[in-house]
Amino acid sequence: MKICVVGTGYVGLVTGACLADFGMDVVGVDKDEAKIEGLKRCEIPIYEPGLETLVRKNMKENRLSFTTDLGPAIREAVAVFIAVGTPSRPDGSADLKFVRQVATSIGENLNGYKVIVTKSTVPTGTGKLIEGIVREQAGDDAAFAVVSNPEFLREGSAIEDFMHPNRVVVGSSDQRAIDIMLDIYSPLGRANVPFVISGVETAELIKYASNAFLATKISFINEVARLSERLGADVEKVARGMGLDNRIGPKFLHPGPGFGGSCFPKDSRAITQIAQEHGMSFRIMEAVLEVNDATKRRMIRKIEQATGGTAGKTIGVLGLSFKPQTDDIRESAALDIVDALRANGAKVRTHDPAAMEECRKLWDDVDFAEDAYQAADGADALVIVTEWNEFRALDLDRLKKLLKRPLIIDLRNIYDPSKMAAAGFDYVSVGRPATKRVDS
Ligand code: UGA
Repeated sequence: MKICVVGTGYVGLVTGACLADFGMDVVGVDKDEAKIEGLKRCEIPIYEPGLETLVRKNMKENRLSFTTDLGPAIREAVAVFIAVGTPSRPDGSADLKFVRQVATSIGENLNGYKVIVTKSTVPTGTGKLIEGIVREQAGDDAAFAVVSNPEFLREGSAIEDFMHPNRVVVGSSDQRAIDIMLDIYSPLGRANVPFVISGVETAELIKYASNAFLATKISFINEVARLSERLGADVEKVARGMGLDNRIGPKFLHPGPGFGGSCFPKDSRAITQIAQEHGMSFRIMEAVLEVNDATKRRMIRKIEQATGGTAGKTIGVLGLSFKPQTDDIRESAALDIVDALRANGAKVRTHDPAAMEECRKLWDDVDFAEDAYQAADGADALVIVTEWNEFRALDLDRLKKLLKRPLIIDLRNIYDPSKMAAAGFDYVSVGRPATKRVDS
């Protein structure tokens, strides 16, 4: 079956490569000529484990190709997946201009029945909007159906998430379109992955509600971490004790510097905005967002307190991406932290395994180190912001020798407080009592 995926960003590229791997004949379309030229040479513009191998394999087997020419790609396809960006507007609502442009092109090129699939996270009602635009272009008798098929990919494990999802959501009122979707996803159907078939609006809301709920879990545990610090409790044990209850579950109960990335902040703002537009204030989500901003600020205060003020000091910062296994720095807490340190008069020396390239464009007064040790060399404190694996087992003796003062501020709780004290560090983490170095 011929499939056109419009947008070769994160979602589009992963979707295209994985659908090609399912045996579909996929063409990925983007208006960015340089990107498409690169993709034709198998140059992947994003950092995602396994993606390059998958793209290369499917291009070689002639199931995956790339073009900037949208018209012919639409005309040849049975299903057109829309995977273009939906950036946040200043008021938090999603900007649908790219979705509108694609819908117009689909309408102009409609040459027979097609399934139009939204993969991007779009506000409820976007399905209807697309339908209206396509009808306007192609006429009232035009044969097509709009499907909402939200993605639940996590950056860093997107291929795994696509190939082994917890569920596939297909929202449409058109049985023929649903059958085509089931056909496209038949390898997952055979693997007994549950399918949720619903109306378009319901599918659109499933996506927002899922991300909003996960963001709520994170803000919740970040508040429990703050309370733990007041009470002298250990948030890690609290989270474990809570998470062993099957109804709660252990996932997304890791306290940290606040959630970032291209999804949780944007989707939390968008669902709040959608609710407002429908005369309802989604109070929990308003609080989740407030707590997230406050958490980022709290981390900065934590660093200032632990160091006795960072002005004039050198601070090593480990991790810049919003989470490990990605070079994505969108809404990363690390950006707020580094900016605050710079504003407070500290010298920042940082290392990230993937995100330094992007950050170099932001700051010209920050030192970018080759590894964690170089970032620690001569620093008054070392702050762990992103829990990359390579930061989990650092050579503590070596670090201690390199740091001016043996102070580690671990905003992801990847080290054990008592072991850090025994290793000779003053150690501050999130939601756990700070420990003082035991000098040997
Ligand atoms: C998220 C969802 O997990 C995916 O299911 C969804 O498809 C995706 O958004 C999307 O809508 O496209 P992603 O943003 O890639 O995926 O990353 P997550 O792994 O969910 O992490 C998001 C943020 O929450 C990160 O900053 C992470 O550090 C933080 N987080 C996560 C915590 O602070 N604590 C946790 O327990 C979990």
